Amino acid sequence: MTTTQRPNPISPASTSPTPTSPAPVSLLGLGPMGVALADVLLERGHRLTVWNRTRAKADAVVARGAHRAETAADAVAAAPLVLVCLKDYDAMYDALADAEAAPGSVIVNLNSGTPQEARDATAWAAERGYAYLDGVIMVPPFLVGKEGAVLLYSGPRAPYDEHLPALRSLGDPRHLGTDPALAVIYNTALLGMMYATMNGWLHATALADSAGVSAADFADLALGWFMPTVVTPASMHESAPALDRADYPGDLGTLEMNLTALDHIVRTSEQQGVPADHPRQLQATAQAAVTLGHGQSNYLAVYEAFKSPSRPAA
Ligand SMILES: NC(=O)c1ccc[n+]([C@@H]2O[C@H](COP(=O)([O-])OP(=O)(O)OC[C@H]3O[C@@H](n4cnc5c(N)ncnc54)[C@H](OP(=O)(O)O)[C@@H]3O)[C@@H](O)[C@H]2O)c1
Repeated sequence: MTTTQRPNPISPASTSPTPTSPAPVSLLGLGPMGVALADVLLERGHRLTVWNRTRAKADAVVARGAHRAETAADAVAAAPLVLVCLKDYDAMYDALADAEAAPGSVIVNLNSGTPQEARDATAWAAERGYAYLDGVIMVPPFLVGKEGAVLLYSGPRAPYDEHLPALRSLGDPRHLGTDPALAVIYNTALLGMMYATMNGWLHATALADSAGVSAADFADLALGWFMPTVVTPASMHESAPALDRADYPGDLGTLEMNLTALDHIVRTSEQQGVPADHPRQLQATAQAAVTLGHGQSNYLAVYEAFKSPSRPAA
């Protein structure tokens, strides 16, 4: 790593924040999410420098007040806080191949990925002299900066605290811990929950459709009554301490009983011509928990089947 300071083509002298002015920020990446980040940073008064591999995609945000960096290296030199919102980690390595960290440069990488990628990126950044935070954006572009927008961060606390006012411009920031992998772990866990919930709804609706029931009619009962009454966030929240204690008393219903219900869902799907892979997977996981000895536990004991003994240590 060279320590030679290159002249900053984007006038660093004008980038020092006063106690009342929003801090300068650089942003790499102007896909749909990058543009949303850029717009909210401009709205909140940050001096924003942008770079995008395809130059023309920066034209619109430059017209709205952003400064254009001709290279990613120039963008890195323009502000101590560098937000990276590219397709993936490899794109970040490509973009920053020729950039040099200035003292105090902080990279906040907002693309999603895997825990190993987050840890590798932390090592990559340390070798180049950057402080590094891994982050994920938990909302679509149109919600960035709005109420309910949550962004998750993990990695060292000091650069997070230092740049908290700028991070707050993007939405509600949550620092999850110093393990850089935590942000992507939460991201994939929450997205997995979203897809599983959506597929539960879509498979159930296909089952209703197989009997000529419209999705709109089925939604009245499924979403108007069943979900808010039977499978509620409050009841799941209440069950969390039991998961932590591995405490699954089966006095109100056992996993064996639930396996029978799962068998009915599989066979009903087959009889109605609805693909049964989804309930078959649920059945297989419940069966695995029974095999682990939880036949007389309640349904939450399926958690034990998901917790593989071969999982990597935190
Ligand atoms: N969009 C969403 O709803 C959403 C929601 C939450 C999180 N995110 C995250 O936000 C990040 C950006 O998403 P996005 O929707 O804006 O679009 P995207 O398609 O994931 O990323 C597009 C950006 O990556 C750049 N890029 C790709 N390969 C590159 C490379 N090798 N070198 C340099 N730049 C490269 C593109 O540059 P070019 O313009 O030159 O192609 C463009 O700026 C992703 O990691 C995504 O997971 C997106």
